[in-house]
Amino acid sequence: MIPDLKPSYILHHNFRLPMGFPPKNFDSALNYKAQKGDTFIVTYPKCGTTWVQNILWMLSHQGQPFPVGKQINREVPHLEEFGADFVKSSPQPRFIKTHFPYDLTPHHPEAKYIYIARNPFDCVVSFYYHTQGFIKHYNFSEGTFDSFFECFMKGEVDWGDYFAHLLSWIDRKDEENILFLTYESIQEDTRSAVIKIADFIGPDYRKIIEREQTLEAIIYHASFSQMSKDQSRWSSERPDTLTPFIRKGKIGDWKCHFSADQQNRLMKKFQEKTAGTAALSLWELSLFSGL
Ligand code: A3P
Repeated sequence: MIPDLKPSYILHHNFRLPMGFPPKNFDSALNYKAQKGDTFIVTYPKCGTTWVQNILWMLSHQGQPFPVGKQINREVPHLEEFGADFVKSSPQPRFIKTHFPYDLTPHHPEAKYIYIARNPFDCVVSFYYHTQGFIKHYNFSEGTFDSFFECFMKGEVDWGDYFAHLLSWIDRKDEENILFLTYESIQEDTRSAVIKIADFIGPDYRKIIEREQTLEAIIYHASFSQMSKDQSRWSSERPDTLTPFIRKGKIGDWKCHFSADQQNRLMKKFQEKTAGTAALSLWELSLFSGL
């Protein structure tokens, strides 16, 4: 390991992109015109995107499991990775993944937005393994958690600052076309999360899960154990990474990685940044204590 190594990025309009992401796709994504019927799954990286992409795919395919040989980031396309033309070529109604903060996300009053927040302690750990594993995107296979933690604290990672992202969406969490969920709540009660998502995206989807067997099948295929088995069959999803997307799926994994100093600093930053906002009460603060 090389202690001072930092991840490499493409710096594009002051925005850090993974090195394999064509900037022209990013630019076209900014100009995508959201439409009535679009549903966006919006996250800061590593907050449960693939999980909800999988749930959305199943809901929009009568509860069938995600098929062998397909890539989830193409079936529920990642807007800034593949660009607007690719997304426009996918059938409607569209389910679209983005990591954009609120201001960069394409908006339409009749499009819907599902935002998933994950606590920053587990997010940074997950993001570290992701960054270390994608050698061609970040050239960071020899990088340490301590070095990545510093980049995360400064917001010098792809898609920018965790807190700016979260705060850009949280103020809008009660708007009619936004469903705001946490990773932790989906894990605590996946059934309720699937029902909430189905209710939110529309009555046709609600109907699908009224059949108990279908709801059970979706919950089963959205479980960590099933998804971690399935991902290797999803057309060798992300063959270029050493870290599986469905990695550990734990709440509190940060305790195995943080020093006491890192814990104090992130806790302080969390409290400062979220003071006076609804983000302060998204998680029990006790989740961030006790090493
Ligand atoms: P960990 O690295 O902590 O395991 P994203 O899809 O936004 O990149 O998020 C990836 C994170 O979500 C990973 O976290 C992954 O394991 C977790 N995840 C994905 N599917 C999950 C599931 N079914 N249950 C719990 N966690 C899941």
